[in-house]
Amino acid sequence: MENKNCVVLAYSGGLDTSVAIKWIQEKYNMEVITLTANLGGVDDLDAIKEKALKTGAKKAIAIDARQTFIDYFILPALQAGALYEQVYPMATALGRPLIGKLLADVAIKEGAGAVAHGSTGKGNDQVRFDVSMQVLAPNVKLIAPLREWNMTRNDAIDYAKKHDIPVPVTVNNPYSIDENLWGRSIECGVLEDPWVEPPEDAFKWTRSIDETPDQAEYLEIEFKNGIPVALNGKKEESIALIGQLNLIGGTNGVGRIDHIENRLVGIKSREIYESPAAIVLHHAHKALESMTLSKESIRFKEIVSNYYSDIVYNGLWYTSFHSDLAAYVASSQRVVNGTIRVKLFKGNCIVVGRKSDQALYSHALSTYDSADTFDHNASTGFIQIHGLSSKTQAKLQPETLSQSIVSGANPITPPETVYE
Ligand code: ARG
Repeated sequence: MENKNCVVLAYSGGLDTSVAIKWIQEKYNMEVITLTANLGGVDDLDAIKEKALKTGAKKAIAIDARQTFIDYFILPALQAGALYEQVYPMATALGRPLIGKLLADVAIKEGAGAVAHGSTGKGNDQVRFDVSMQVLAPNVKLIAPLREWNMTRNDAIDYAKKHDIPVPVTVNNPYSIDENLWGRSIECGVLEDPWVEPPEDAFKWTRSIDETPDQAEYLEIEFKNGIPVALNGKKEESIALIGQLNLIGGTNGVGRIDHIENRLVGIKSREIYESPAAIVLHHAHKALESMTLSKESIRFKEIVSNYYSDIVYNGLWYTSFHSDLAAYVASSQRVVNGTIRVKLFKGNCIVVGRKSDQALYSHALSTYDSADTFDHNASTGFIQIHGLSSKTQAKLQPETLSQSIVSGANPITPPETVYE
C-alpha cells in the first residue's frame, strides 16, 4: 500500500505530540497516523487513540509492546550489567530503539512517506530515534516537529487552544517525564539547579525515606541464565515480577537516582530517575555473577558493561558491534543460575545472601576451619615467583620506589611558542 503523503507519528497523547498532529498537517500538508506504544507507562491506550482521532489523525494505532520491551531490551541490558555512567539503568534509552522499530514497521506496512517523533533538538532521544530509523527504514523521511518549530511551551499551549486540542491538566506539571516498566525519568523545572534537592513532587514510584517502613523487607530472587524467574520462591512472569519489584522497592524508597549525566550532544544535564525494579535486579544479578563467573570474566564484564551502556545510551542499538557484544553477554550468562537474597531498607538494597549450584565459591577452599583443603605450603613457592619482578626492581632501580615524576613537568602541552 503506497501512501507517501502520510506520516506515522509516535504519539504519547501529551501536549507536544498532540500539537504535532496539527502542525504536521499544516506545515507539511500530510496526513497523520499516530502510533502509541505501551512500554509500561501508558494507562489507557483507547483514550489516547480517541484523542488522536479527535485531534485530526487519520488513523490511530496502539501497540502493547511490554513483553517485547522486556525480552529484547530490558533483560539483555540486565544481563549486560548496563548502567550508564554506573548509575542509570536506561529505561528511556532502552525504550527508544523499540519505538523506532515499531515506527519503522508501521511506516513500511502503511506505505507512509515519513515518520515523526516528539523529541527536541538537544537531547539524546532524537539521536536514538533518528539513527534507528536510518537503519530500519532508510527510505522513509524523518520529521521532528519539536526540533523544527520554534515554539515555547506557552506557544504550544496557545497553538493547542487555537486548534481545539484539549490541553491536558498535566501541562502545569513543571517536569518533563518519560515512564516505562524499567523506570521513570524526570527532568526540567527546579531540577535544572544541581544544588537544589529534588522536591518530593518529582517522585511518583518511590517513597521518601522519612516515609518508608521501619522494618526491613527481604526478597529472594531466583535467576536462570541471568534472567530473574522467581520471587520469594514463586515463579513469576516477567511483567508481573518487574511490576512487583517496582512496588516493593518503591515502598522502601529504593531506586531514586540523582545524576549529573553526560549527554551525547555534549551537554551535562541533571537527571532524576526512579527505577526500583532495575536497581534491585542489577544488584542481585551482579551478586550472582560474583558467585558464578571467574575473576577474568568479571573483570572483562566490567569493560563489556561500559561499552554496552554507551551503545544503548548513544542510540547505536541496531549495529553489528551491539549484536556481537550481545552474543558474548548471552553466552556469559549460561552459568548465572541461582538465588540472591536482598534486604530493602530505607532506600538501600543490600545483598545479604547468595546460593548457586554452579557457584565457583568453594567452602572447602575458603574456610579457615578444619574442613580446609587448601594447600598452605604451596603458597610459599607461588609468592616467590609472583613477587620476583618486584624484588628485582627494588634491587636494581631502588630510586623508582621513592621518587615520582619530576615535579612541575607538563607532559602533554608544549611550552609557549616564541617568535620574532
Ligand atoms: N536523560 C535520559 C536519557 O537520555 C532521560 C531522558 C528523558 N526524557 C524525557 N522526555 N524526560 O535517556
